[in-house]
Amino acid sequence: MTEKYRPNLHFSPCAGWMNDPNGLIRVDGVWHLFFQHDPNSISHGPMHWGHASSTDLVHWAEQPVALHPTELGTCYSGSAVEAADGEIKLFYTAHSHTPEGEDHQVQCLVHADRSLRSYAVEPANPVVANPGLVVFRDPKVIWHEPTGRWVMLIAEGQSIGFYGSTDLKSWTYLSSFGDGHGRHGCGPWECPDLVPLTAPNGDTVWVLLVGLNTGSYAPGSGTQYFLGQFDGMAFGNANLPETELWLDYGRDYYAAQTFFERGGTDKPTVMAWASNWLYARQTPTEAFRGIMSLPRELRLVESPDGLRVAAHAPLAARQAFGATDRRGTGRFDHIVTLTVGEELTITLFGEDQPHFIVRRTTIRRGALRTMRAAVPGMDQFAHDYAVDFAWPERGALDITVFIDRGLVELGAADGLVWITNLFFPADPEAEARVDSMKR
Ligand code: FRU
Repeated sequence: MTEKYRPNLHFSPCAGWMNDPNGLIRVDGVWHLFFQHDPNSISHGPMHWGHASSTDLVHWAEQPVALHPTELGTCYSGSAVEAADGEIKLFYTAHSHTPEGEDHQVQCLVHADRSLRSYAVEPANPVVANPGLVVFRDPKVIWHEPTGRWVMLIAEGQSIGFYGSTDLKSWTYLSSFGDGHGRHGCGPWECPDLVPLTAPNGDTVWVLLVGLNTGSYAPGSGTQYFLGQFDGMAFGNANLPETELWLDYGRDYYAAQTFFERGGTDKPTVMAWASNWLYARQTPTEAFRGIMSLPRELRLVESPDGLRVAAHAPLAARQAFGATDRRGTGRFDHIVTLTVGEELTITLFGEDQPHFIVRRTTIRRGALRTMRAAVPGMDQFAHDYAVDFAWPERGALDITVFIDRGLVELGAADGLVWITNLFFPADPEAEARVDSMKR
């Protein structure tokens, strides 16, 4: 099980390839994580849904593979819900090729029992046929309480399609969102999600998450979000169309999804795949390839830049990282007070070059610079860029760094700024520590 870059407290599959989190759901107190998986190789091959479960979102037990390819295709990303009768329904994209070699994608339904051990494929699959789109995938099903019906979001090229249903089997097209809004790279939008959050003033605001395969804030894949209203039919962006909001500013936080919890929750929990399509197939691991991020709880805050999503690692994760004696794994908390122009340098793994530099650029703004060295055999892995952010009004900036043998998640400014990055240091165990110094 142990190899050089396998994390201790983040989920990674025992063997094989993993990308997106799928079908995230909490049932009877157990958190279920399904994931894009090729159990037979460490490359993105014929996709299955792997499965793991946890009672604390930190320690995961891998379960037998849940979904296998069928005659309709391999099993691309999707979601899970608990229906009124207590049955669990999984939705995934069956991916196949046309005789001409084009991608063909349709949405399928699988019925599961509450223990998520037995699965029955819906005989009427596909439940949503392809309307003639090359990218038509990643069904995310949510319950829309005010209209009393199910809504499915589907990534359609560079926009999100919305479909409605009362029985989870027959789906009607409602609307689409995306054209001219937010960031559009040259690749598709992927893995949408939609959750209602309560703003500090008590209003319900809907958060639409969208994965950008390429062309995100940092080079490659990334997760943007939109804030707005959803009336059960259509999503309306509350910000100007050109506004770009990012759930994480790092290189390795993709395909983020929230856990379905029956009855809803004030603090939806989100997880992401800690990698980037630019180099995901080249990472130097052996038995497995792919790591999930830590879970994070989302809430809305009124920041100096306006209403924003803030994310926090749940207490169990904070405690597990604070208490672990496993080498290479730990949590570091800093409270930083800098004068304008001053910097704080964070150096990881005992290396000479800094990995993060925090600078107070003006009385109200800061810059968080992230640097990563090249790794042989990995294209486009090195980086050096900075994130501009609002310096907390109280004057002191909080920074928490979760380090897990090469996966580093840095959160700052009370959850408003996150940078999740993979590193492949010479020795991920020997010196998992933070050196900081003021210049
Ligand atoms: C996102 C993604 C999804 C797709 C899956 C295939 O990373 O490209 O759009 O369903 O991965 O594994």
